[in-house]
Amino acid sequence: MSARLSQVSGHLTNSYGRGLLAGEVAIVTGAAQGIGRSVALLFAKEGAKVVVSDLDEKKAQLVVDEIKKAGGDALAVGGDVGADDFPKKILDATIKKYGKVNHIVNNAGFTFDRMLHTTPDDAWDIIMKIHVRAPFRLIREAAPYMRVKDQKNRENRSIINVSSIAGLHGNVGQANYSSAKAAVTGLTKTIAKEWGGFGVRANTVAFGYIKTRLTQAKEQGAAIEIEGKKVALGIPGMKEPAPDANYPNIPLNRPGEPDEAAAAVLFLASPLASYVSGHTLEVTGGQGI
Ligand SMILES: NC(=O)c1ccc[n+]([C@@H]2O[C@H](COP(=O)([O-])OP(=O)(O)OC[C@H]3O[C@@H](n4cnc5c(N)ncnc54)[C@H](O)[C@@H]3O)[C@@H](O)[C@H]2O)c1
Repeated sequence: MSARLSQVSGHLTNSYGRGLLAGEVAIVTGAAQGIGRSVALLFAKEGAKVVVSDLDEKKAQLVVDEIKKAGGDALAVGGDVGADDFPKKILDATIKKYGKVNHIVNNAGFTFDRMLHTTPDDAWDIIMKIHVRAPFRLIREAAPYMRVKDQKNRENRSIINVSSIAGLHGNVGQANYSSAKAAVTGLTKTIAKEWGGFGVRANTVAFGYIKTRLTQAKEQGAAIEIEGKKVALGIPGMKEPAPDANYPNIPLNRPGEPDEAAAAVLFLASPLASYVSGHTLEVTGGQGI
């Protein structure tokens, strides 16, 4: 028992009572792996009850199992964020189990890269649908739980939308993705303005090169199946980062880890960022400055 207790306390921070997000409820989309998984684990470690959502429900359940094993509370909800019935499905499940929602992290996404002159309409449409339309629809569905008029019952609430360095600077081969990730900042800023009066903060986090399935070599064969179509993931010819590799575009001279990406998301969700809204936090190791 004492071993179990010390294991659990090792997972919980002592920096802010029972954690920076103690008692709060967070929905994280695309949380079965990569950055979203790290966000779900870190939020749970900081006391949040986490709704772990992903296209891959089995993998999402594994993240929930991991959270529960460490003494936390989580729920898996499978589904495609782009599906018309997705927002209602996840909000219903969240409210049924936890009765409220404090944070939504719109993280689910993938790339469908082509040079602009060879980008077909379907590659444009699906990237816009997943990265812009889906977050918009999920946030809209959550409006009754976020726009709390009663000032006394207000809790720490925020929306965090995941963007990319490609959305800030453009990127070769990513006209669709860069456009979608740029749109995310407009969406975030509008929420900050419309919902600020209800105490809801809205922020964007723009990642640079984070080591996940999205940034591994395309030749490794990872793919996502979306609306019955297979989309290959990764970057053509990408090498496994060697420990002594140099990254002249990145001042910190290395890629980021998913846990480092998650730490930035935690900051934005936490009371440490209580006066931060409408901001785009670049988590890029300095790339693009
Ligand atoms: N890795 C990077 O360098 C990087 C850089 C900038 C932005 N991003 C963004 O970060 C987010 C997370 O990406 P990652 O690098 O962790 O990738 P990842 O492929 O490791 O994880 C993405 C997760 O999202 C899920 N997902 C994808 N489409 C979905 C859908 N339609 N419905 C539900 N779930 C879906 C996948 O199943 C997967 O579990 C994405 O929005 C991505 O665009 C990543």
